[in-house]
Amino acid sequence: MKAAVLRENQKPLEIEDISIDKPGPGEVLLRTAASGLCHSDLTVIEGGLPFPPPCVLGHEPAGVVEQVGEGVSDFTPGDRVIGCLSTWCGVCKFCTQGRPYLCPSQFEGRPEGSAARLSDASGAPLGQFANLASFAEQMLCPERSLVKIRDDMPLDRACLIGCGVTTGLGAALNTVDIPAGASVVIVGLGGVGLAALQGARITGAGRIVAVDTQSWKFEMARQFGASDCVDASEGDAVAAVHEITGGGADFVFECIGLVPTVQQSVAMTGRGGTTVLVGVVPIPQMASIMPADLTLQEKKITGSFMGSNRFRFDMPKYVDFYLDGRLKLDEMISSRIGLAEVNDGFDRMRKGEVARQVIVFQ
Ligand SMILES: NC(=O)c1ccc[n+]([C@@H]2O[C@H](COP(=O)([O-])OP(=O)(O)OC[C@H]3O[C@@H](n4cnc5c(N)ncnc54)[C@H](O)[C@@H]3O)[C@@H](O)[C@H]2O)c1
Ligand SMILES: [Zn+2]
Ligand SMILES: [Zn+2]
Repeated sequence: MKAAVLRENQKPLEIEDISIDKPGPGEVLLRTAASGLCHSDLTVIEGGLPFPPPCVLGHEPAGVVEQVGEGVSDFTPGDRVIGCLSTWCGVCKFCTQGRPYLCPSQFEGRPEGSAARLSDASGAPLGQFANLASFAEQMLCPERSLVKIRDDMPLDRACLIGCGVTTGLGAALNTVDIPAGASVVIVGLGGVGLAALQGARITGAGRIVAVDTQSWKFEMARQFGASDCVDASEGDAVAAVHEITGGGADFVFECIGLVPTVQQSVAMTGRGGTTVLVGVVPIPQMASIMPADLTLQEKKITGSFMGSNRFRFDMPKYVDFYLDGRLKLDEMISSRIGLAEVNDGFDRMRKGEVARQVIVFQ
């Protein structure tokens, strides 16, 4: 089967014919239907998130079950599923606390000494990013990385729920508690930010301010529920947000992953407000904040990982939101591309020319 392989950081992915193993106990083999391109894949390519090449990236997939391994009872061939990197074990401290998105099992593949799930034409093992590796025609995943969805959900839109939508919506719906009428700022209008914006709208937030350097995104942002838009390429975005919100917002979601915008997001947060860090700043970059700013104004900063999800519960609900018209996904897709165009897709992402791009497999 064809896959896009990362051979070396900061180099284009290479389209190769690779092999995929048979499903072992608790594993499911899928035919990949569609995979979104998320900025986190690009951060791995550029070396800002450690995952060693050679490997297959892609972690925003939807597909169809082809074969199940021993002991798999939740899936049968033909099931339509979304894959999520938040693999859970069910028994660790985080799973039993109700925070399965922090489960360490998501960073583990097959047990040591097992055959690799993926290998290249020479038989050498290939890393599988996030237990998914969806830049490939087939995927071999733990069943606890998958959720079954309604048959009437189109898979080229379902895939967006696999990462960006769950991350953004969940940041607003799960990580923090936004009271109706609260002021919200979304910094960065990629797939993640546009989903956080919709999450804020669904919670009943008051003013929702969308911030980006690409002003063409503002029409979409308004359609998704933004009341105000700030062009960060023109003038002081922090001052503009203070002006609109009367001294800073109740909630600011940083959805880019840059040090300057993290610092701006803290500065945009008002007295008693919360900054939610959703963007992943490349490791090991540091940001500076003024602690007194937090103490004297009782501001909070929190991270939000994968929308604090319980994806087997959340994702079917997000599918319902879409099919009911409460969640906009069609508008988020800037283009549908083939696997061979994946590098062009990342170039367009680097330039900020797109909202979300989806690889559609035949
Ligand atoms: N926390 C999580 O679990 C999680 C999950 C998925 C993705 N992420 C991270 O979320 C971030 C966003 O991902 P994405 O796929 O939506 O990215 P994206 O590249 O599609 O979107 C980023 C947006 O930020 C805008 N932008 C860039 N520089 C800016 C600036 N200085 N001021 C204002 N706007 C600016 C761009 O124009 C673009 O609209 C990334 O850091 C990604 O790694 C986090
Ligand atoms: Zn992602
Ligand atoms: Zn666990």
